[in-house]
Amino acid sequence: MVRIEIDGHPFDVQNESNLLSACLSLGLNLPYFCWHPALGSAGACRQCAVIQYKDAEDKHGRLVMACMTPVADAMRISIAAEQARQFRSDNIEMLMTNHPHDCPVCEEGGECHLQDMTVMSGHTFRRYRGLKRTHNNQNLGPFINHEMNRCIACYRCVRFYNDYAGGNDLQVFGIHNNVYFGRFEDGALESEFSGNLVEVCPTGVFTDKTFSAHYTRKWDLQTAPSVCIHCGLGCNIAPGERYGELRRVINRYNGEVNGYFLCDRGRFGYGFVNSPERIRTPRINVPTAVTAETAESHFRALLKTATAVIGIGSPRASLEANFALRTLVGEENFFLGLDDTEHTLLNTIIGLMRNGGIHSPSLKKVEQADAVLILGEDVTHSAPRLALALRQAARNASYDLARTLHIPLWQDAAVRALENQASSPVFIASICATRLDDIATDTYRGSPEDFARLGFAIAHCLDESAPAPSALSDIEQSLASTIADSLKQAKHPLIVSGTSCSSLAVIQAAYNVAKALPAHDKQLTFTVPECNSLGLAIMGGRRLHEAFETIKEGLADSVIILENDLYRRAPGQNVDLFLENAAHVVIIDSLENKTTEKAELLLPAATFAESEGTLVNNEGRAQRYFPVYPPTEPVRGSWQWLTSVMENSQSRHHDGLTAACAGTIPDLAAIIQAAPGANYNINGSKIPRQPHRYSGRTAMHADIRVSEPGQPQDVETPFAFSMEGAMANVPPAFLPVIWAPGWNSNQAINKFQEETGGHLHDGDAGIRLIEASGALPWFSDIPPEFKPEQNLWRIMTLPNIFGSEELSLHSPPLVERLPNFCVFLNPLDAETRGIDTGDQVEISDLAGVPILKIPVQIELTLPRGLLGITAGLPELRSIKTCTQVRLRKINKEGHL
Ligand code: SF4
Ligand code: SF4
Ligand code: FES
Repeated sequence: MVRIEIDGHPFDVQNESNLLSACLSLGLNLPYFCWHPALGSAGACRQCAVIQYKDAEDKHGRLVMACMTPVADAMRISIAAEQARQFRSDNIEMLMTNHPHDCPVCEEGGECHLQDMTVMSGHTFRRYRGLKRTHNNQNLGPFINHEMNRCIACYRCVRFYNDYAGGNDLQVFGIHNNVYFGRFEDGALESEFSGNLVEVCPTGVFTDKTFSAHYTRKWDLQTAPSVCIHCGLGCNIAPGERYGELRRVINRYNGEVNGYFLCDRGRFGYGFVNSPERIRTPRINVPTAVTAETAESHFRALLKTATAVIGIGSPRASLEANFALRTLVGEENFFLGLDDTEHTLLNTIIGLMRNGGIHSPSLKKVEQADAVLILGEDVTHSAPRLALALRQAARNASYDLARTLHIPLWQDAAVRALENQASSPVFIASICATRLDDIATDTYRGSPEDFARLGFAIAHCLDESAPAPSALSDIEQSLASTIADSLKQAKHPLIVSGTSCSSLAVIQAAYNVAKALPAHDKQLTFTVPECNSLGLAIMGGRRLHEAFETIKEGLADSVIILENDLYRRAPGQNVDLFLENAAHVVIIDSLENKTTEKAELLLPAATFAESEGTLVNNEGRAQRYFPVYPPTEPVRGSWQWLTSVMENSQSRHHDGLTAACAGTIPDLAAIIQAAPGANYNINGSKIPRQPHRYSGRTAMHADIRVSEPGQPQDVETPFAFSMEGAMANVPPAFLPVIWAPGWNSNQAINKFQEETGGHLHDGDAGIRLIEASGALPWFSDIPPEFKPEQNLWRIMTLPNIFGSEELSLHSPPLVERLPNFCVFLNPLDAETRGIDTGDQVEISDLAGVPILKIPVQIELTLPRGLLGITAGLPELRSIKTCTQVRLRKINKEGHL
């Protein structure tokens, strides 16, 4: 720390920061545009001017840009000096000459950093009367609007999109006062992180197109803290609602998890909540709709008459909902509802996290890794936000070099110029090319067996006592030893693997590598497919095929299925048989699917936006989400349907259920600390979900009834469906809206952080459940190498950010970005069979029974003998990874 003086007051600040960051961390108001805590300083906008004095004698000082000035001991500056204030006011006046002043129709209005900074800088009157520069806008695809006339040329967009996120289709064109930020030509922005432009751009150039479709002002949105349910990383989100419809999702800052950024699936995949495919009424023997009361009594009666009931849980349902089901049917009758391989993989991952002795890092910690091995994952598609974190990790060597050259790390351009000289090693072993290959030191393509063998070989290079694979090629042996050397030299090495390959050997090999690493601060992280995959696996339960057998053998006659489309988990004929054999099938879910068609009793479940619960992310962090708005009766939270037929009234409240779950399952004991309970209040007040400027409350339901209805009561959370309540000193897990006086945009977050870009005051939300301890013996089950077989093909399902995940498939903007329906083929494999891109082939099982007809796309990087298909696409759902199939070309006449 160093001591500096600001406007005559002494302050202690971090000695490695710049003046702007230091002032904001102290809670002082200083306007800025181009600086961003995650992007560093660019010195482009000249808005953060302050006066710096040489010493106590210096009465005039000189103007400096705070974001470009390092703090130094005994430094004296002034924010309030007239010269600085005037400069900032003049500067923004010039920035605003071309700005259209269209705030009343601009979607950024009310949460615009430019509005806030204009007011803060004292520019209140427009003198310029000349013509404004105008631009044409572009169609940037289904996610983002473009209104270039609002640009103030701060360069944040391209710095985020290209430098930070690795994109290359958004550029700056033009010169002088006529610069243009856009694509070379119209077309969807290609980056998986494009949605962050909406929050990174300080004006209304890039706005959320999905929000435009049902726009409402920020102050008219009802909001609650929430967690993204579209993958296993648990990014924190702030969804907004108006008139009973979910309108948008924006980032909610968590210094340990997602920081400032989300992926596009998380941001734009919320449409399923408003989908016409939502189940809105209970049904008994489809399609008869009944009231909630009738459904509840039918449920009770069914439980009474059933000889025995089993329950199938869900990795996309909360811990509480799963625990309620487990309690209702009994531990021995609770099945996890995962496909068998995934069940095994998740159990193995939990075992490694518990007993493997290697730390599982948060995304923040991932960014600090100085050498990375990714074994068998395309993380951009399986866990997108992790890819963004890994991209930052690759920069750590350039940070080290910058330190030796005494270049401050926030000097963005200077440090990025060092990236050519120094980048931290990243090795990627994946089935085919990945979006992170541009930062890879080396890449390796292969089958899951190949990845496992490579991993075992690396571990053996690091530690001779680790078992080694036999018959490794010279090239593979040399690669293993190069990777081992790089990892050995690292202080903070990180091994990344996951469930995408459906291979136990890959996961075990990843553990062997991590175990063999000599570094004290080594990390091992696994991607998992769904938002509560890890939580469900920690809870534990029996396998899905055992559920099928239980019904088949008559050991139970009824089944309750919680938020789970079993046709995504097991072969269709097995599920058909299971559901036909059960005398009673109760299904609780939010969206129609193939499984819900088979329900005797179908109960409409609230989504994450209308209910509460706890999810455990891949790091092992339990995080709580809260209802943004109440579900419309008869829709209820899954946990409420389940507890409504229980005898124990304690469990009828969410806190009681959380406590019971924590008390029953030792590894989940800490979930009660994920957030305070429903009784939490601030001086007797609840926390409002609606901002204090929320408008129209008295008239919102005037089309139904002119008298204002009472606000719905929420006894399950500390939040009120109201604008009344207390907003000060709210704990991080309960921060619904980020706002501070004078700060209406998301940049207000600096008022809630210990320092800019750092942890939230009182700690980031969530609680880690598992800390690594012990050590496991080496895994030694090394698979034989993969050899393509004549006329036999191995299916590899490839996750895709748009298309592989169940819920987002019901979100129209994401559906527009689905990958092509095709099968990928190695060019040599294709050539030997006379197949070219666009040709149709028939895929059949080993007995020759046709599975599907599908067009081919040649993929240069796909190894021979493999067929790559996009995981999760409805047409391809029944196909599991590693299935062996046959393939025949269909000629132009449609014959084989
Ligand atoms: S488009 Fe937005 S982020 Fe990009 S330079 Fe203009 S104002 Fe800055
Ligand atoms: S990375 Fe995963 S959790 Fe994060 S926003 Fe994207 S889909 Fe959601
Ligand atoms: S924020 Fe300092 S010059 Fe832009």
